Amino acid sequence: NTKKITNICCIGAGYVGGPTMAVIAQKCTHIKVTVVDLNKQRIADWNDADLDRLPIYEPGLADVVAEARGRNLFFSTDVDQAIAEAQMIFISVNTPTKTYGVGKGMAADLKYIELCARQIAKVSKDDKIIVEKSTLPVRTAEALRTILTSTGNGVKFDILSSPEFLAEGTAVQDLMNPDRFLIGGEQTESGEVAVQALVDIYLNWVPRENIITTRVWSSELSKLTANAFLAQRVSSINAISALCEKTGADVDEISRAIGADSRIGAKFLKSSVGFGGSCFQKDILNLVYLCQHFNLPEVADYWEQVIKMNDYQKHRFAKNIIDSLFNTVSGKKIAFLGWAFKKDTNDTRESAAIYVADELLQDRAEIHIYDPKVSKEQIFADLCRCEEERRDNLFDEVAKETYCDFLKKQVVVHLDPYTAMQAAHAIAILTEWDEFKTYDWKKVYGDVLKPAFIFDGRNILDKKQLSDIGFEVECIGKR
Ligand code: NAD
Ligand code: UGA
Repeated sequence: NTKKITNICCIGAGYVGGPTMAVIAQKCTHIKVTVVDLNKQRIADWNDADLDRLPIYEPGLADVVAEARGRNLFFSTDVDQAIAEAQMIFISVNTPTKTYGVGKGMAADLKYIELCARQIAKVSKDDKIIVEKSTLPVRTAEALRTILTSTGNGVKFDILSSPEFLAEGTAVQDLMNPDRFLIGGEQTESGEVAVQALVDIYLNWVPRENIITTRVWSSELSKLTANAFLAQRVSSINAISALCEKTGADVDEISRAIGADSRIGAKFLKSSVGFGGSCFQKDILNLVYLCQHFNLPEVADYWEQVIKMNDYQKHRFAKNIIDSLFNTVSGKKIAFLGWAFKKDTNDTRESAAIYVADELLQDRAEIHIYDPKVSKEQIFADLCRCEEERRDNLFDEVAKETYCDFLKKQVVVHLDPYTAMQAAHAIAILTEWDEFKTYDWKKVYGDVLKPAFIFDGRNILDKKQLSDIGFEVECIGKR
């Protein structure tokens, strides 16, 4: 008993839905893939003839879209039609941290997921396989089933969990050569048919041994666990970086030394100004909330510490800038190189840069920002949101306008890195963009105020070379 899929719909054309479906469409020419979103602008951008204007920047993505779009890959705002036609529906909508009510600041907000389920229930006339692609709390499939079957119209739904493990900046690579794809399904006859249908799709380009199948709950919880483990590695090495700065040990040497132990492994041990991105913090908070919900306070505290350490790391970096600049940055020009949460992406969600800038702005610094991929509008929106969160969403229009005026005075976004650094009191590296290594640092030295401070929040610059030029270089986890 098998089910051959020829028509897929994906709800949510974001960082996951867009690239994931583009790769499925490229690899499975026999499947019609329609990605839908309520956001009209986003869909228009995915359909833009100019591939430089796709809504997200990922190396290699434009080529994949160019090949498949209009052939078997479609972007549309007609959610109902795409749902009605599809045999398999991926749900790839956002699941942010709740900002209100029960579980505020911790639990995942599942309202978008619920809306999808209600829409699918309303529109579906024939049996469908529903795939959870979004990152969800364990046992969400149960809630989905309740909603999907609530119409009582006899349509049968099989629910799978197939969380996405791609990292931004390498999304296309990760999708083309995944360490694994994970599928959680029910151990019933139709559940197994559904699992096999999705296995068959992935098999078009992924070896069978890289496709793991599990129970639904294990699959859901594996995703939160994977992100918690990854973030924990960063917080662990960042914790050691603080001790390195006190003792004269070098955190990069430690990463190399411990990473050579195959049980530890070399990846994800790069000390930094702190992890960012839309998911690590949100998913750990979600995990912590689940543990609290199931009355496991020790487990909750254990994972919460990963976030506390990350907050500490961001704060430590900002405080070091203020301390080094003689205890105040008021009226001083601080140049920021990088705003994205990591290189090779235009995504800024939860970027450490936002929190460092915010802390410096509270000390009345003037911040001059250059990022090769992030727009001025995005940077101002990020800083505004940060203030809003601090005020616990009590941002009335007057307060907002006052703060926007303050930002307009204090923050300048540059299209050229050299003008951003011109006459700066200090330069801070917030993102590890490769191009920063290639700048003419001698020329920069001539243009900045002395002492010429560089705070390298990513340890990417050549400390010795810069010190020889005359810079005062401060790195993470080394003296
Ligand atoms: P995103 O915000 O970029 O995209 C989500 C999209 O869903 C938005 O465009 C939104 O308009 C759309 N949407 C919301 N509700 C809708 C509805 N009812 N109907 C139609 N469209 C709707 O989010 P993302 O970064 O792609 O993340 C999606 C999910 O994948 C999250 O659960 C996230 O945790 C998970 N995830 C993200 C990444 C990543 O690298 N960003 C990686 C793995 C997993
Ligand atoms: C992460 C996971 O790596 C993906 O597997 C997962 O699918 C995704 O979250 C998700 O669920 O959203 P992503 O956040 O895109 O991917 O990027 P990462 O490469 O994991 O980097 C996250 C943050 O950690 C970045 O700010 C990065 O600079 C920082 N980091 C990473 C370090 O500071 N040091 C490291 O050694 C690695």
